[in-house]
Amino acid sequence: MVKEKNDDKREKIITQQETDEDRVMNISLRPTKIKDFVGQEKIIENLLVSIGAAKKRKETLEHVLLSGPPGLGKTTLAHIIAHEMGTKITATSGPAIERAGDLIGILTNLEKGDILFIDEIHRLSHVVEEFLYPAMENFQIDFVIDKGPYAKTIKFNLKPFTLVGATTRSGLLTAPLRERFGIFHHLEFYQTDDLIRILKRSSNLLGIDVLEDAAQEVARCSRGTPRVANRLLRRVRDYAQMKEKFPVNKDVVQAALDAQGVDSAGLDAIARRVLSAIIDYYDGGPVGIDALAASLNEEPDTIVDVVEPFLLKIGFLKRTPRGREVTALAYKHLGRDKEKQKELF
Ligand SMILES: Nc1ncnc2c1ncn2[C@@H]1O[C@H](COP(=O)(O)OP(=O)(O)OP(=O)(O)O)[C@@H](O)[C@H]1O
Ligand SMILES: [Mg+2]
Repeated sequence: MVKEKNDDKREKIITQQETDEDRVMNISLRPTKIKDFVGQEKIIENLLVSIGAAKKRKETLEHVLLSGPPGLGKTTLAHIIAHEMGTKITATSGPAIERAGDLIGILTNLEKGDILFIDEIHRLSHVVEEFLYPAMENFQIDFVIDKGPYAKTIKFNLKPFTLVGATTRSGLLTAPLRERFGIFHHLEFYQTDDLIRILKRSSNLLGIDVLEDAAQEVARCSRGTPRVANRLLRRVRDYAQMKEKFPVNKDVVQAALDAQGVDSAGLDAIARRVLSAIIDYYDGGPVGIDALAASLNEEPDTIVDVVEPFLLKIGFLKRTPRGREVTALAYKHLGRDKEKQKELF
């Protein structure tokens, strides 16, 4: 299938996951204190209670599981939890822990109350996961020394710690792992007002002057996602700098986003390709995720984790037992005629 001629980076300005640029920039834009974390009020309120109570009892915080689409602030929250608890955080990720042995060093180095952050926790191998169970439950690990008839299992006591797990798909977590978390929060897409507040904070930190309606426009095209908002803001900043257009107004934003291939609904080229492929090759659906991914030459996980959640949220896509279906709203947005389309088949 032919890809549009955009380079991959531009094509995925919205849907691409954390990039190196994000990582570097996010260090300055990422809030470290709970009071700087915008939105998700219910979660923050509950976390403040859990953290406050644990501190009062001088206990460690229960294990926390954070789920939700990419870029909504799971990693940020894990760091904030450590900051608020006044403890150290060690960060790793599911795919990075290949063998149970990799975890022994990490676990035995944790001090009382420390946070162990495991990103993409749904991607832990079964062996590693099972090794984690007693560590989470009784702060104990079993390791086997020697081989064959001399093999012995030794129990090792750990200091009480808090595991903070993050996942884009809590559905992929096994039940025994899920049950070992005491605190569970699901992050939702952000409201435009919250994104505007995030953008104002970020433009202050970046030292650029952005007018109200311009911030609103960036927020509207950010797919409800702070990471996307910050990323678009940086592209807008580049554009304004090159054209010497400060303060940034709505026209500058529209021109900059246009240059990036981001449309009025905040869809980038890959999101549009997903919708178009369902219309063009599968008569609007339903189509199974694997067939769809294959015809787009993308990983099914990318579509499910990154592209699809927002399309579902804005009602451009529907999930049915038989697969994904494009809605009338999406036809309208793409300027396609559903009835005419039907005649072609
Ligand atoms: N509530 C918030 N307030 C302000 N900024 C935020 C907020 N949430 C996220 N951000 C910004 O968005 C960036 C991305 O957030 P973060 O890395 O925490 O997302 P994530 O949920 O861990 O994503 P992934 O699933 O891809 O790992 C942060 O660096 C930060 O700049
Ligand atoms: Mg993260």
